[in-house]
Amino acid sequence: MSLNGKHALITGSSRGIGRGIALMLADKGVKVAINYYQNEAAANDTLAKVKERGSHGFLIQADVSRPDDISRMFEKVRDEFGRLDIFVSNARTDLPTFYQKPLEITPEQWDMAMNSQAKAFLLGAREAARLMNDEGRVIAITYSPGGRTGSWQPWVAMGSAKAALDSLVRYFAVALAPRRITVNGVSPGGVFGPPNVVEGGVLRSLPQDVQDATRAWHEGGWTPMRRLGTPEDIGNAVTLLCMEEAGFITGQIIHVDGGASIMDTVFPLEIQQG
Ligand SMILES: NC(=O)c1ccc[n+]([C@@H]2O[C@H](COP(=O)([O-])OP(=O)(O)OC[C@H]3O[C@@H](n4cnc5c(N)ncnc54)[C@H](OP(=O)(O)O)[C@@H]3O)[C@@H](O)[C@H]2O)c1
Repeated sequence: MSLNGKHALITGSSRGIGRGIALMLADKGVKVAINYYQNEAAANDTLAKVKERGSHGFLIQADVSRPDDISRMFEKVRDEFGRLDIFVSNARTDLPTFYQKPLEITPEQWDMAMNSQAKAFLLGAREAARLMNDEGRVIAITYSPGGRTGSWQPWVAMGSAKAALDSLVRYFAVALAPRRITVNGVSPGGVFGPPNVVEGGVLRSLPQDVQDATRAWHEGGWTPMRRLGTPEDIGNAVTLLCMEEAGFITGQIIHVDGGASIMDTVFPLEIQQG
């Protein structure tokens, strides 16, 4: 099925994974509403790249942690597009707003993680459903390992928020199933885009030695496919879920990680690789 002429809203698509999703959908002829928070230049660059692919779109500044901004964002989508076929809840606030260990995190940091993920999806999916015809697509970009594990200590708020997000995916999948609107989560593993912080995703903002060690870890075998993901990998997965042929897949969290999520932490890597 062609996605040509469909309309999508992607939160946080000025850079990183959100930009990758916007460009892969634009390649298929989808018109894209590009949400950003404060990086208007990067959002404009995404829009220029959407147009280079022969599609169209527009920018919307909005803070997804604020309910009023979410309402205003969907009003603009209605004014510009008149309807919506695809809603991708992707935005994640920058690390300093939530990155703190369990014994030190402030209530404000906790609220920022929850509001920008779980509450943003709750309100966004409801607004999206109002603008959608039957057979729309709602997709959350999550990070399920953060909700299942407890070892990356400063991720406590975001991990908890992503766990709530994963749960909301299942509840909304049931709520919207009568209209054949599917609701799924895509859980990337480590994602490295091009070597700059705009296109490269959040890992590119970490110190170079951390980036190098992370890359070596995955290329050394912790990811069976021996590479990190790219924003395009995630954009491809989202595009597949948007196809008509994916219309019976709902309420699922799809791991797009080259197999990293099926590794067993009990045994050393050398033993697992046989
Ligand atoms: N990168 C990874 O390895 C990885 C792995 C698993 C899951 N994920 C998930 O993938 C998604 C994207 O991650 P990323 O690494 O691509 O992020 P990123 O490169 O840090 O980009 C974040 C995006 O979110 C926007 N944003 C920030 N605060 C916002 C707010 N309050 N309201 C609206 N938009 C806001 C930014 O807009 P501005 O440019 O205007 O600031 C930007 O477009 C996130 O949900 C993340 O949890 C990432």
